[in-house]
Amino acid sequence: MIRATFPTLIYSEPLVRSGLGRFNAELAAECRALRDFDEAGRKWSLKNYPGGYTSYASMNELHRFSSTFALLEKRITGHVHRFARALELDLRGRTIRMTDFWVNIMPASAAHSLHLHPLSFVSGTYYVVTPKGCPGIKFEDPRLDRFMAAPPRLPTAKSANRSHVTYPAKAGNLVLFESWLRHEVSQNRVDAERISVSFNYNWS
Ligand code: NI
Repeated sequence: MIRATFPTLIYSEPLVRSGLGRFNAELAAECRALRDFDEAGRKWSLKNYPGGYTSYASMNELHRFSSTFALLEKRITGHVHRFARALELDLRGRTIRMTDFWVNIMPASAAHSLHLHPLSFVSGTYYVVTPKGCPGIKFEDPRLDRFMAAPPRLPTAKSANRSHVTYPAKAGNLVLFESWLRHEVSQNRVDAERISVSFNYNWS
């Protein structure tokens, strides 16, 4: 008998079944307006998010200030509950709560290097504008530093056995993962902006 043990769960679902076109168009306009408005964020991005814009360090509680983001938060929270159930987390009667919510805009050549999300237990991204050919989100096997002398995986290995797995960025789709799972976005090689919003959840 061979059984998968200690699996790493990644959640990928459409936010809602249909009717997102208009909502995403409004959201994209709001993300771009935020970039125009957020001088501190543009300055921070120059150093920390080369080639792109993120409001991660400047305006990272957008669900408290924007009704569009507040509506999105409500919709995402339902999915986070579903994910937490799949993980069989014992939340001890505490509440799942979104703590941070920010915008990422990646024009051509922007990239986001390997990182994880401290001070939260579930994180994720919702895709707003995803031009054809733009990069997805690439996850790294959390055991990678323990592989020592293990041979590499076959190029034909199924995704569950690979050390890196990429989920495509698709507008209207939501990806959730446990916050300790390292991930990155490779360089955008398409001459068009890729827009996403990312968030962290806490239990308190
Ligand atoms: Ni991230």
